Formats: sequence, structure tokens, C-alpha cells
Amino acid sequence: MKRQDKIKELIELREKAKLGGGEKRIEAQHRKGKLTARERIEILLDEGSFEEFDMFVTHRTEDFGLGDQKYLSDGVVTGHGTIDGRVVYVFSQDFTVFGGSLSETFAMKICKVMDQAMKVGAPVIGINDSGGARIQEGVRSLAGYAEIFERNILASGVIPQISAIFGPCAGGAVYSPALTDFIVMSQDSSYMFVTGPKVTKTVTGEDISIEDLGGASVHSTKSGVAQFVAEDEEEGLLLIRKLLSYLPQNNLEDPPVTECNDPIDRLEDDLNEIIPESANQPYNIKDVIYKIVDNEEFLEIHANYARNIVVGFSKFDGMPVGIVANQPSFLAGVLDIEASRKAARFVRFCDAFNIPIVTLVDVPGFLPGSAQEYGGIIIHGAKLMFAYGEATVPKITVTLRKSYGGAHCVMSSKQLRGDINYAWPSAEIAVMGPAGAIEVLEGKNISLIEDADERARYTKQKEDEYRDKFANPYEAARYGFLDDVIEPRNTRFRVIRALRSLATKKDFSPMKKHSNIPL
Ligand code: HXC
Repeated sequence: MKRQDKIKELIELREKAKLGGGEKRIEAQHRKGKLTARERIEILLDEGSFEEFDMFVTHRTEDFGLGDQKYLSDGVVTGHGTIDGRVVYVFSQDFTVFGGSLSETFAMKICKVMDQAMKVGAPVIGINDSGGARIQEGVRSLAGYAEIFERNILASGVIPQISAIFGPCAGGAVYSPALTDFIVMSQDSSYMFVTGPKVTKTVTGEDISIEDLGGASVHSTKSGVAQFVAEDEEEGLLLIRKLLSYLPQNNLEDPPVTECNDPIDRLEDDLNEIIPESANQPYNIKDVIYKIVDNEEFLEIHANYARNIVVGFSKFDGMPVGIVANQPSFLAGVLDIEASRKAARFVRFCDAFNIPIVTLVDVPGFLPGSAQEYGGIIIHGAKLMFAYGEATVPKITVTLRKSYGGAHCVMSSKQLRGDINYAWPSAEIAVMGPAGAIEVLEGKNISLIEDADERARYTKQKEDEYRDKFANPYEAARYGFLDDVIEPRNTRFRVIRALRSLATKKDFSPMKKHSNIPL
């Protein structure tokens, strides 16, 4: 073959590879409102930055007539590129080739990018759209999955791993995304389940649709499996770019600091008025978050799951932080099983990747009741406690209002290695709220008072005494459990100063193989 023909051959092979399973299948993909594997990568990465690996890989199976059906790339597009100029590795499953099903070679391609990402110290983004294990390959396909799982596990806490689900993701295939740090699902076109509707019906008799069993709404509100839901794929891909802007490349680097044009000493007079006069009246904690962070920018995670706690990324003076905040406007901001799990996972992510944590506290306690106790609130609450106590990143706590009982200890208290603990003058830090405390301490005396008015008067008097004694920040400040009581409108400046002072913080935990967090 002549030199020119060789080059022509290369160009033709490339064009062929880019067509995946062919034009008809690409059209079918588009008809479903879905993008192709390559179109997704184009949106995700900086323009022109994609370097593809293994375009000429094909599967090695002859069974079931597969020998005659070989497609260049074998159903997954892999390689590296940049996002905002920083290197990332990517794999994007191609549904147009055997329904994006995973073969041995398909798995090898994914493992190759994961291995390189680990050596380089760069994030991995996986775009999932697949019918699962390639049925014709049998155990080799299962082994391929397990190879990926092991790499997900070893990469956890070393490089950020992000999964997009833009189509089917079923059976054991769900476990690779589940092992990663964040899952983004597209509304209406993605689903995840361990067992699909048909088998579910056969085994349990339950008749349920794909959407109701494992659609994006389910996983973003009920199961908490997905941290984000995007209206469409493009929104999901841009969201991943945004998410990465808060994260370091790996666990040995600090998160990227950017220039801040929002004045660090901006006073927010509204914050002096935001806490309602009545302790039982709610307010929206996100109003506080938006007022204190840079340019009102807050990337909320798990926005529709366990809404009694708010978590997400933001910046102070250009420094990325993780924010954890009780939400008084939903279930009074109580800590329950779901809120504890949600916040614990977030705190651990931040700690693994050197992202300081700012905690805003307004928590009436743990949610009482048999449903919570039977569900294991003891263990789940302990997860959050463990996550905070173990974390060595800078931890700044601001107590806005209630901070009662065990929930007080959990929410980044001084004794769980909180570095700087501030409170607003409206803070109430005590073993429990006044009503509960007086019920325990005075219940018997109160029940002996026959006249109802007198009973109410006496109860109120006792509650007021208790409130005067404990429902303020000064009792805790007197013992040094708080470092200062601050004016609410000054919170932004005080948090930024605290973060600056802690920038060189070093703290360690005892050497061990690993801890035994209550799972
Ligand atoms: C081989 C597959 C495939 C698979 C789909 N295809 N899934 N080929 N192995 N797992 C092929 C189809 O035969 C079809 O080929 C093409 O991909 C497109 O699939 P359709 O069925 O036409 O698409 P659609 O109607 O959109 O349905 C998508 C689907 C369905 C819901 C994903 O294909 C499906 O149910 N697939 C099987 C899913 C499954 O049970 N996978 C195994 C799960 S267990 P042609 O040539 O006809 O167009 C598993 C274990 C992993 O994955 C364990 C890890 C530890």
C-alpha cells in the first residue's frame, strides 16, 4: 500500500469508528432525545481537548454470531481532555453498539483510563448508557465489571470520580456509579435499578414501572442514590464542569482558589433580622448561605433529598468550601436517618479532598419515634458524628439558633475538633429545648397543680427560667466551647478570616489500617 493510501486508510477507519453502531442507530438514539457517546464528550470537555484512546479496539467473541459483528471502539469511547484547562479522564458508553453492553475489551478500555487517571492524579468522569453485561460474553463480562469496581474502590478518596447516567444502568452495572463520589441523572431518560420491573414482578409480585422503580425522580428524592438531576444531558454535563470547579485534581492537592470580586467585608444587615422572634418559627437557611458566600453562588447537592439538611459547595474569598446547614424550614431542621447519611457522606468527601467545611447550626435534635429507632438512627446519627470527628480539614461552625442535645455534639462541635466555633446572639445551646426539659424536671410538680391556668403559668415560668439560663450562647462561651459570639451581619467577614487563619492547618488521627465507621 502506498504511503498516501495508508493515510487515507487511517482517516477512513477513524470515520468508521466515529459512527459507532452506524447511522441508523445514531438516529434512533437521537429520536429518544439522547446524545451519542461522542456528542456527550464534546459538551463535557473544553473544545478540541479530547484525546481518544483505543479507537481500534474490537471485541474477541465468536459465539452467537458475534464474529461477524465487530465495531471499532467496541461500544465505549475513552480518553482524556480538559475542563477549564485541567486534565480529566473520561469514558462514555455508546448505546449504538450492542446497546452499550460491557464486553471484556470494553472493560479493559475503561480500566486503562482509570489506571492512567490514578497515575496522573486527575478526576474520572464516566458516562453510563448501557444494557449491562454483554450477554454473549458471559463470565468474561462479569470479570470486566469487577475489574472496574476494584479500581473505583482503590481510586475512592484519591481522585474525584463522577458518574453521569443518561440511559439504562441496571443489574450489577449500578455498582460502579454507586462506588463513585457523585451521580448525575438525566430527567426522563435514565434509570438505575439492581432488579428491573419484570423480574421484580416475577419474584415479589410488585407491579411497577421503570420510572417509578429507578427513574431520576426516585433516586433524587427517595433513595438518595443520585446527588443531581438534570433537565437534559447538556445541563447534566455542564453541571459536572461546575462541580469540578470546586474540587482539587486529587487528594494531595488543595482545591482551586479563584479571584474573588465580592467584597470580603460586605455587611449584611438583613442577617441581624433573619432569626424570627419566636423560636418555633422557621426561616430558610439558604437565605443565610446566599448572603454570606461569594456572589450568592452555591452548588447544592442532594437538593431534593433529606431537605432538613442542606449541603453543597460554595466559595469564600475565592476559596472552595463545603457547607453543611440544618434547614429550619423543613421538618424544623431535625436530624433524622436520611439527613445524617446525606451529611456524613458529604463531610467525608470534603475531608478526603482537602475542602474546608463551614457548618451552620440550627438543630432542635434528633427525630424521635419508633420509625427512626427501628431504622437505626443510632447508627446513622453516629455516621455523621464519626465523619465530623474524623475530619482534619479546617472546620468552622456558626450556631445560628438551636443546638440541642446529641445533635449539638454532632454538628461540628468544639469537642469534635471544631477549629473555630462562633455563635450568633440568638443561639440556644443546651441539653434539650425548654419544653422538653421542664417536662422532665417539673412534670410531676406540674401534674399536681389542679387549676389549668395556674398549671400553664407555672410551666411558662419554669420554661422562661430555663431559657434565660441555657437558651443563649454565653453559657457555652463561658466555658470556651464557643470562640466568640458574633454579629450576624458580620458573618461573611468572620468566616473568611477564620478560613484564612486555618489555611495551613495540620491535624492528624492515630495510625491505623482504616477506621470502622458505623456503616
Ligand atoms: C448484548 C445487548 C444487551 C446486552 C442490549 N443489547 N443489551 N446485547 N448484551 N446486555 C442489544 C440488543 O440486543 C439490541 O441489539 C441493542 O442492544 C439495542 O437494544 P434494544 O433492546 O433494542 O434497546 P431498548 O429497547 O432501548 O432497550 C434497552 C434495554 C434492553 C432496556 C437495556 O436492551 C435490555 O433489557 N437489555 C438487557 C438488559 C440486561 O438484562 N442486561 C444484563 C443485566 S445483568 P439489536 O441488534 O437487536 O438492535 C448485568 C450483570 C452485571 O448487567 C453484573 C456486574 C457485576
